[in-house]
Parts: sequence; structure tokens; C-alpha cells
Amino acid sequence: MKVLVATEKPFAAAAVEGIRKEVEGAGHELALLEKYTEKQQLLDAVADADALIIRSDKVTAEVLEAAKQLKIVVRAGAGYDNIDCEAAKAKGVVAENTPGQNANAVAELVFGMLVYAVRNFYNGKAGTELLGKKLGILAFGNVGRNVARIAKGFGMDVYAYDAFCPADVIEAAGVHAASSQDALFETCDVVSLHIPATPETKQSIDKALVGKMKKGGILVNTARKEVINEPELLELMAEREDIKFVTDIMPDANDEFTKFAGRYFSTPKKMGAQTAEANINAGIAAAKQINAFFKDGCTKFQVNK
Ligand code: 3PG
Repeated sequence: MKVLVATEKPFAAAAVEGIRKEVEGAGHELALLEKYTEKQQLLDAVADADALIIRSDKVTAEVLEAAKQLKIVVRAGAGYDNIDCEAAKAKGVVAENTPGQNANAVAELVFGMLVYAVRNFYNGKAGTELLGKKLGILAFGNVGRNVARIAKGFGMDVYAYDAFCPADVIEAAGVHAASSQDALFETCDVVSLHIPATPETKQSIDKALVGKMKKGGILVNTARKEVINEPELLELMAEREDIKFVTDIMPDANDEFTKFAGRYFSTPKKMGAQTAEANINAGIAAAKQINAFFKDGCTKFQVNK
């Protein structure tokens, strides 16, 4: 079987070597399409691939149509909003993700950006500390739980809300369970977003919600830009000069956000999962899942059932 790694944002070299070892060790062939810049390169490369490993690369109906031999696509990472799961299902292609494998990397970046924000983007003026501040985690999945673990090390008072995770599970992790999303924003000094981009969550982080934050509130986004209602957040930041917004996913309206100098920061390119460890964990997990699929028909991590 031919396994194609197609990554516009490439994995660390050690991760590619690990993937090669897994794939070739199972008797399959490995092909690489790294740092591609044109969609056509992806369309050409998938033509004879039996399996595909991707990151945030878009696997659209067009890509699936071009991938005549494709049986499985694995998103090396958590969010699979870049895969047209319905189109894959219609073509009998199994779509999987590798949950949890890059969660710590994303969680660590939350604090990288948060310290930067509370210290006024290192402009030399007195900032604040994280010790004793209330941190709100929106969605208590793999990343959210790692954020909670690290926040405790900073001595933060940690809250979480997750529409799909019962309060007793959150409390068992030593975290206060907020009664609602609104309550989380009302209570906390900082809110960190870890919700996936779904029809329900897209645009859900809006003016009314973020506007509930106390004076000096900080919003951290390491999830997806689509969950933010950008026009409304811009409006709120214009009205509330105390609100800060730091993000690992550059908003479409980045130029407008940059007008809020000293209160806004975006990484130039999504960096959350961009560590050697996360690349190795997620890349090798993806290769192992593909091997298990071809060997035993295992579809444990299928997301388009
Ligand atoms: C994920 O969903 O796993 C993260 O957003 C990482 O995305 P990336 O592989 O494009 O860095």
C-alpha cells in the first residue's frame, strides 16, 4: 500500500523518520509531499495513494475525487474540520484523527501567550502575575485538561465548562465546574478556548459573551479562528479598552485587530502543535493507525462513521 504524507506545514524530520519506520516496517511504501504551495500538487500526489496522513491540510470533495485508490485519511492531530467527512463517507474512505497526541504542546503555548499578555507584550511596563488569578477553560478535552494541569503549577484558580463533560468529571480533576459558558466568562480573569469548530460553536465567541468578562479580561484562542465572531470582538475591543486577545490562529480580520496595539497578538502561523514531540506523537500515531487499519481493519479512531 502507498502511504502519502501530505503536509503544507511539514513535520519535524524526526517525526518523518518515525513515520517511515512504521510504514515501511509494515511493508508499505511511503511518499512525501511536504511544503506544497498549490492545490494541484496535492491533487496530483493523492492520485495513487492508498492512505493519507495530513495536518491542517484540506481534504475536500475535490481531493477525495482525485484520490481514486484512497481507503483511509488520518489527520495527525485533534481537529478534523479540514476533512470533508461526509464526502469521505460517501466514497467509503475512513477518516480518523489522533486525539490527545499533540495536546500538551498546545496547552504549553497557551501559557507562552498568556505570560506574554499579562506582561504587556514585554513592553517594559509593570504587568500582572498569573498566581491566584481565575482561569476559565472552555471545553475540557485533551487540551483543556493539560491546560488545567499546567495552570495549577502557576497557582491559578481553575474553572472549566464543557457542554459534553459532566461537572463531577471536571471536579474530580480538581477544577471548579462552571454552571454555564456565560458563568465561565463572568467569573474568570482569563478564558482559554478549546472548543472544536462545529456548526454549533462557529461564531459563538461573540460580543455578548466576551463582554461578560471582568475589567482586564484576557481571551486566549488556540482552537479555531471560526469560533470567534470577529466583527463583534472587534467592536467589543473598541468599546472596552481593557480587553486583551491573544491567538494562535490569525483571524481573517488580523489587520483590523492589529490596530489594538498592546492588547492583541497573533502568531504568524499556527504554532500550537509545532513541536518535535507533538509531531512525533501525532505522526507516529497516524502511521500506526494506518498499519492497524490495513492489517486488521481497525477503525478505532474513525470520525466519519
Ligand atoms: C490540531 O487540531 O491538532 C491542532 O490544531 C494542530 O494543527 P496543525 O497540525 O495544523 O499544527
